[in-house]
Amino acid sequence: MSSLLMNLDEIDLEGKEPLTEPERQYYFMAKCRKWVRHKEKELNRALTFSVVTFGCQMNAKDSEKLAGILEKIGYVQVEGEEVDFVVYNTCTVRENANTRVYGRLGYLNGLKRKNPNMMIALCGCMMQEDAVVDKIKKSYRFVDMIFGTHNIFKLAELMDTRLHSKTMIIDIWKDTNLIVEDLPSERKYSFKAGVNIMYGCNNFCSYCIVPYVRGRERSRNPEDIIKEVRELVADGVIEIMLLGQNVNSYGKNLKEPISFAELLVQLEQIEGLKRIRFMTSHPKDLSDELIEVMKNSKKICRHLHLPVQSGSTDILKKMNRNYTKESYLKVAEKIKTAMPDISLTTDIIVGFPGETEEDFLETLDVVKKVRYDSAYTFLYSKRSGTPACVMENQVEDPVAKERFDRLLKTVQEIAGELTGKLEGMVEEVLVEEVNTQDSSFLTGRLSNNTLVHFKGSDELIGKLVSVKLSQCKGFYYFGELI
Ligand code: SAH
Ligand code: SF4
Ligand code: F3S
Repeated sequence: MSSLLMNLDEIDLEGKEPLTEPERQYYFMAKCRKWVRHKEKELNRALTFSVVTFGCQMNAKDSEKLAGILEKIGYVQVEGEEVDFVVYNTCTVRENANTRVYGRLGYLNGLKRKNPNMMIALCGCMMQEDAVVDKIKKSYRFVDMIFGTHNIFKLAELMDTRLHSKTMIIDIWKDTNLIVEDLPSERKYSFKAGVNIMYGCNNFCSYCIVPYVRGRERSRNPEDIIKEVRELVADGVIEIMLLGQNVNSYGKNLKEPISFAELLVQLEQIEGLKRIRFMTSHPKDLSDELIEVMKNSKKICRHLHLPVQSGSTDILKKMNRNYTKESYLKVAEKIKTAMPDISLTTDIIVGFPGETEEDFLETLDVVKKVRYDSAYTFLYSKRSGTPACVMENQVEDPVAKERFDRLLKTVQEIAGELTGKLEGMVEEVLVEEVNTQDSSFLTGRLSNNTLVHFKGSDELIGKLVSVKLSQCKGFYYFGELI
């Protein structure tokens, strides 16, 4: 896909660097590529890179962009961290995400001692926090560059700066209005791709750090999104995942406002595109228009991720979620009535400040009423700078842990009862890969996101095939190709 974009050989490196984007970045990519070629000759081998991703789909997508730039520069992507250029794309949504990164930095230091050519870049959500940057400046001097979430497109420029400097390069932007289009991106799969439709978040749920590290909500222009999807389809993609922290508020702040449902209608018309997924939906903004569009669509997958966070209206208020237990249940009911075959999934936080046993029972009640196909459950984690961090009545760890275990048990019981519901039916499966356990099997996904394993050859990877779901095994099916 990157080959469709600007040709680096046509860039005049004697001239001055352009001031407009993305031209400026292509100039620096060409400059860095010259350096990489020189190094290759010196070392008599190719230079390698890897991007290690922590966190959510937004970060996964950003990592594809970083990989796209590094490939364009001339590095070769490999697995693992014994490479010439490693990027850690970090997450800070919960404390344990940070702990994992610090834990692995010591290991990188050891690798760099063995390979003096190695460059280490840290980027992503954690780097938007001053305390983190201070700590790295002080205790992790071997890091070559730090940048944040708003300027990942500048990787080549930062690398060029680093090549001309002896010290760590730090470039963190507090926020941005800029959306740089038409940069290279390296896809993990040839047949499916994530597509950003918006960046940032304006919701300020009181526990959440994302709005502080990802900035204000910005929607991409529908024309840019459609152009990107058309190009992806021309390049072999049949499934797209539209990405945003709250896709239901897409387009509201554009000069010519458009709703998320309207965007879906336009994307549906793209010939060759077979499946459309999206995440995440905030329950407060989920419109009847969207339900209607989903119901009538042949391409939008039968899966909706609708994070509830808590079942208690009191706690939801303290969380600043802007819906109640009753209004959430009503929306969930509407969706299920419109699409009885839909798979509903959710996120739940246990142990939010002030959560009582009664509040927790309300959460269990919602789980039992909605009957989620699966749920991501989290122990509340204090994030400094968020309103919840300084709220009274923080829940004691053992109490939260005990509730967490009870919740998980209920979620799993219900999910287990639901997965068998398609047993015996013939369903369309998008084949994703050769089964990791047994290479005579393939693994793919149903429209509702459930995994299916069946016998078949790897030529089917990336294709939609009909599979009889013969046997349900807990959270996946064994099937037979029809
Ligand atoms: N924009 C998405 C969520 C992004 S963060 C949405 O609004 O649904 C993914 C999930 O992490 C959240 O849904 C929430 O359940 C969890 N999460 C966020 N902050 C957290 C915190 N401080 N402690 C525990 N879980 C948290
Ligand atoms: Fe965080 Fe809430 Fe925004 Fe989701 S909607 S990213 S939970 S602030
Ligand atoms: Fe983590 Fe940033 Fe995503 S904090 S969850 S990687 S938006």
